[in-house]
Amino acid sequence: MSGDGDCTAVIGLQWGDEGKGKIVDLLAPHHDAVVRFNGGANAGHTVVVGGAKHALHLIPSGILHSNVLSVIGNGVVVDPEGLLHELGRLEDSGVDVSGLRISNRAHVVMPYHFAEDASRESRLATDESGESGDRSIGTTKRGIGPAYAEKIQRACAIRIGDLACEKTLREKIQLSSRFRERQGEDGSSEQVLDAMVRQYRGYGESLAPYVADTFYLLHDLLDQGDSILFEGANATLLDVDHGTFPFVTSSHTSVLGIASGTGVSERRLGRVIGVLKAYQTRVGAGPFPTELEDAMGDRIRERGNEFGTTTGRPRRTGWLDLVAARYATTLNDCTCIAMTLLDVLAGFDDLRVCTAYRVDGVTSDRFIPDARALSRVEPVYTSLSGFSQEIDKARTLADLPSEATAYVDFVSEFIGAPIDYIGVGPDRRQTITLAAETGATA
Ligand code: IMP
Repeated sequence: MSGDGDCTAVIGLQWGDEGKGKIVDLLAPHHDAVVRFNGGANAGHTVVVGGAKHALHLIPSGILHSNVLSVIGNGVVVDPEGLLHELGRLEDSGVDVSGLRISNRAHVVMPYHFAEDASRESRLATDESGESGDRSIGTTKRGIGPAYAEKIQRACAIRIGDLACEKTLREKIQLSSRFRERQGEDGSSEQVLDAMVRQYRGYGESLAPYVADTFYLLHDLLDQGDSILFEGANATLLDVDHGTFPFVTSSHTSVLGIASGTGVSERRLGRVIGVLKAYQTRVGAGPFPTELEDAMGDRIRERGNEFGTTTGRPRRTGWLDLVAARYATTLNDCTCIAMTLLDVLAGFDDLRVCTAYRVDGVTSDRFIPDARALSRVEPVYTSLSGFSQEIDKARTLADLPSEATAYVDFVSEFIGAPIDYIGVGPDRRQTITLAAETGATA
């Protein structure tokens, strides 16, 4: 997948919340632009800089570096109201947001997409006609699925560029409303329609200084020799094609989404960094072979502060699933791995990693990207020694206890990729950079 260019991709290898924001933030100063290519405000990146915590949903983590452009590519779905709030919060904390650029071809999440997301979820939860009763996906209710569905349906989908034209905006809202046979609040009454058009025209005006044709912007940067960092949102196992369907998000979350979500070929990539949490978490519904629904799982949740950045929901927790991690590493053709949150595992006597699945008496080390089939597998574990001492102050490999190093080495060998970064705490500085130790560049 990766070519021989100067660009870098940072991609989550699990079900999200791997700590990608911190890795992007670490690498951003070595690039000229940080670019989002998929998803919307369903993503939540927390970046801690000098003790100050920044929760980002739509804006690329590069925004915290004033000389780096932060680009929202055409593959992203944008809730303009949420975006303006996020911009406001960053400005209030003194962050310079002038380097933000939004593709005029990114799609807009409208209020009726939020409403549809919530209503589909509650209908799926209560519809008794299915095999399992509750069939909801556990979405973030940010309107992501309905916005992407409308994009694929084409005619009434609204792009950021459309916010500049009252006539287009009015026609599309009206058309969408007619197709969906919506009630008054969705724009079918003249009054509601007028208010919605006014509101979104207003958002268009506020966002106008940031809107650009990001295709040419990115290619102009590449032509002048600049390098780009692509920031994946959500994560590989949530990919609409390659994840645990149907418990996935509605975009292409792996490295494969970069080309369509930005217009930049993957041949420009020199490095693909897969971000892998030292254990496994999942928010929302769907199969999770290594889930721990016991005190061990609670302990990981508490130590890892595993509560959603976007929704505040407690995350499901479990042992690291190396079958899934190897699949995601192969799919993304990762050149290296950043292992995050290793510090959370301090204090456990034994650590377990899943190295195979057993189903109907057959053992296999292949992942199954289908929810129904995956829900039937039993994990086969390999036990590794735990480490008792806290490691949040470790800054080099030599500072780690030998059991922690053995854990990292086992993972690296199993998934077949070098681990170049180890996260031992939320702050930028709490990172062991092995690439630097071995003489490779950051
Ligand atoms: P949606 O993206 O809101 O439609 O949600 C679909 C599924 O993906 C749900 O299980 C969400 O919890 C999950 N999801 C979406 N984005 C993220 C993320 O950034 N981190 C973790 N889970 C996510």
